[in-house]
Amino acid sequence: MSKVIFLADDRRLAVPPGGPSALRKPGEPLLDARRRPLRDLRISVTDRCNFRCTYCMPREVFDGNYAFMPHSALLSFEEIVRIAHVAVQQGVRKLRLTGGEPLLRKDIEVLVGMLSGLRTPEGEPVDVTLTTNGTLLAKKAAALKQAGLSRVTVSLDALDERQFERMSDSRVGVRTVLRGIAEAARVGLAPVKVNMVVRKGLNDDQILPMARYFRGTGHILRFIEFMDVGATNGWNLSEVLTGAEILQRIAAEFPLESAEPAYRGEVAARWRYADGAGEIGLITSVSQPFCGDCTRARLSPEGKLFLCLFASQGYDVRSLLRGGAGDDDIAARIAAIWEGRGDHYSELRGRETMHSKKIEMSYIGG
Ligand code: GTP
Ligand code: 5AD
Ligand code: SF4
Ligand code: SF4
Repeated sequence: MSKVIFLADDRRLAVPPGGPSALRKPGEPLLDARRRPLRDLRISVTDRCNFRCTYCMPREVFDGNYAFMPHSALLSFEEIVRIAHVAVQQGVRKLRLTGGEPLLRKDIEVLVGMLSGLRTPEGEPVDVTLTTNGTLLAKKAAALKQAGLSRVTVSLDALDERQFERMSDSRVGVRTVLRGIAEAARVGLAPVKVNMVVRKGLNDDQILPMARYFRGTGHILRFIEFMDVGATNGWNLSEVLTGAEILQRIAAEFPLESAEPAYRGEVAARWRYADGAGEIGLITSVSQPFCGDCTRARLSPEGKLFLCLFASQGYDVRSLLRGGAGDDDIAARIAAIWEGRGDHYSELRGRETMHSKKIEMSYIGG
């Protein structure tokens, strides 16, 4: 007899006995409607942040009156690990902790330790990484490494103090973030990736200073096209400097050659300095979307699974956990959700999609 899986509030899916995965032979990957496997789970552990980046959490919206999630709504570490464990059994090989600012979540290193203990069905460990704004990194790096974190990605949009303050709308100095990056590399959370969101007319004069600074350090600087995530950042195409334009500016000073992706579906296109001083990456979600290879699912702080950075709704998994479901039920639900996935927002980006209701990046992570 068929069983019915409830997807969102108003959607249900008939599945065969044993769940949709019963249709798969052992070892066969879980594929979505566009035949993309589930490989990465990005876990947002808080919707709070100590920065107010204008492109992510503009202060006019995220002010003292903003209703952040109450602590009781957040998934506990045990609940996060349970979902991650099931997802790993379903094919996930990389876990990334994000936020908001993940290092604001109390005892985050304990969660890292629990996640790094997970094993694939073949007995292999999974890659556990984290994206942070770097303010608490100098303090936390050693404990995170000790707990089993493999690498970190640090957001930094400018080297110039006033520019940085303007982008992050915070009083935390550039030096604090640079200290965090240095400490992360020192304890072995390397290579450190540095993410710079480029907003034309605002911080694009920082592209070359950033490239000069990080060349030869072993850190990998990645330039991100300003995206229309969320509904609060006033995105406009005229503020997007394309990856091709960014590349041109850097190559005019430092010759570059393209490098092969490090793995299939890598978000950043890699370029190497011809003189051997390291590499940079370009993340061109607007000018050259990469949905075709998108293997990422996102788990929100209160346990909803989102299938795209630009989705307007997630699928509740928390109620299943709190309702006493077994791992098989959770696996069946994740499989049903993933198999129904057809999202490819960045390929469709246009008039209609731009005005659709979207979740905020501070809630679901980068
Ligand atoms: P590693 O290669 O393991 O370092 O991971 P990564 O390249 O996914 O790194 P990171 O998580 O830092 O992602 C970099 C940035 O790319 C994010 O902050 C987002 O701005 C953007 N990004 C990541 N995933 C997606 C995605 O699925 N869709 C879109 N449109 N942008 C994404
Ligand atoms: N466009 C591009 N990248 C963004 N990020 C946050 N908001 C945006 C946006 N609108 C990036 C941050 C950080 C990661 C969490 O997501 O710079 O690196
Ligand atoms: Fe915070 Fe990162 Fe958003 Fe900036 S981009 S406000 S650091 S979550
Ligand atoms: Fe994946 Fe959605 Fe980003 Fe496309 S827009 S790469 S489907 S998260």
